[in-house]
Amino acid sequence: MTKLFFYGHACFALEKENVKVLIDPFFKGNPHLSTIPELEPNLILLTHGHYDHFGDALEIAGKTGSALLGQPELMEYCKKEGAENLVKLHYGGLVVFDFGSVKMVPAWHTSSIGEERLYGGNPCGYIINFFDKIYYHAGDTCLFGDMMIIAESTPIDIALLPIGGRFTMGVVDAITAVNLLKPKIVIPMHYGTFDVHLKDPTEFKERAESETEAKCVVMEPGTFYEVPEDLKI
Ligand code: NI
Ligand code: MN
Repeated sequence: MTKLFFYGHACFALEKENVKVLIDPFFKGNPHLSTIPELEPNLILLTHGHYDHFGDALEIAGKTGSALLGQPELMEYCKKEGAENLVKLHYGGLVVFDFGSVKMVPAWHTSSIGEERLYGGNPCGYIINFFDKIYYHAGDTCLFGDMMIIAESTPIDIALLPIGGRFTMGVVDAITAVNLLKPKIVIPMHYGTFDVHLKDPTEFKERAESETEAKCVVMEPGTFYEVPEDLKI
């Protein structure tokens, strides 16, 4: 059974049979975490260069030899910083792995690296086929109509959507996003981290369950969700 770990904010990991895919590894400075987990991922997906997503990617990759996957510009930055195992991808591109595949899709946001705001390419989201279940990590984004097309070509089992507002879509637009994406399960993210974010996901959960077809799973940071084999809910 696949375990989907949530570390707060936009940081998740998918784990099954010694395969671990980590997404947006924001650990140091992540107020949702009291301790930093020791992880040995095979692959780290990066949605963009902002510190609350790029986070500890270089350090974890340096320690574990994990591959880093992201936009070419962000990967070039990682290379300059000494990372070696890099997978460059752009919108529409798909890479096949033993566990399935990773496809890069757009996100409407920015992507800069560090306080100097170095160019980080474009921000993105990911469609991840992990042992035959389809996950969509939206990254930081506003609502956009092409979500419907993304989900048409690859029906989504579990969507991870930002709901915190200010730097991403908030509850109202995220509900529209759920109706465009039609996932079986939606898990809210990117809320409750900083003062400007929405604190409480309750309204989103209530509205998702009454106004969309999706089941909403709210995850506590530091916990995991056992993804049901049969997602026909
Ligand atoms: Ni961002
Ligand atoms: Mn962010």
